[in-house]
Amino acid sequence: MRPLIALNLKVYPESLGRKGLELVRIAHDVGKETGVRIIVAPQAVDLAASSKIHKDIFAQHVDWNAEGAFTGTTTPEAIKAAGCLGSLVNHSERRIGDEAIGKAVARLRGNGLESMICTKDTPESARLAVFEPTFIAVEPPELIGSGISVSTAKPEVVSGTVQAVAKVNGTPVLCGAGVSNGGDVRKAIELGAAGVLLASAYVKAKDPKNLLAEMAEALL
Ligand code: G3P
Repeated sequence: MRPLIALNLKVYPESLGRKGLELVRIAHDVGKETGVRIIVAPQAVDLAASSKIHKDIFAQHVDWNAEGAFTGTTTPEAIKAAGCLGSLVNHSERRIGDEAIGKAVARLRGNGLESMICTKDTPESARLAVFEPTFIAVEPPELIGSGISVSTAKPEVVSGTVQAVAKVNGTPVLCGAGVSNGGDVRKAIELGAAGVLLASAYVKAKDPKNLLAEMAEALL
């Protein structure tokens, strides 16, 4: 599998409305220029507009059990209808428990959508790999938003997770938390990761295009 970059725009003021769509456009341009797969997870209200700009759009969260008389939820079917390719599942800031994770992945798959299960460590990654998501993204919670990359501060989490998941079924493993520059990305790939998942460094960058291009080059 070719390595990839996944960008979670979260709900930062810097990714709100037009600013968020501009971040999607930049990701689209860098992906086109470098040939690197770049998944973007914009704010929920921007999913449909984002998928008109870039085809590789994921939701940040999906509600596996909603249908019909539920309020304020996002279903896999709605994500699909909005033109998206998949969803993050169980992000550290939106943890849902093992049973819900399995059901969310299955319902996404049933709709022909991809899934990226976020995990906090190696044992959780190996345990959740049995649900056969498209990707696993391991992110030590204490490094999220820290600017200190998991690939530098906790390389053993990256390599250990890659090895543990390889023993289960070989689901591609991304790593995230604090990933801030091309060097962090290069290190992640050297440790065996299939790519990186990041948020704040991209969303808050003075020059997001330059940063993303540097990260994409580091993958090649
Ligand atoms: O979803 C990615 C995220 O949790 C990592 O955040 O800001 O450390 O890149 P950040």
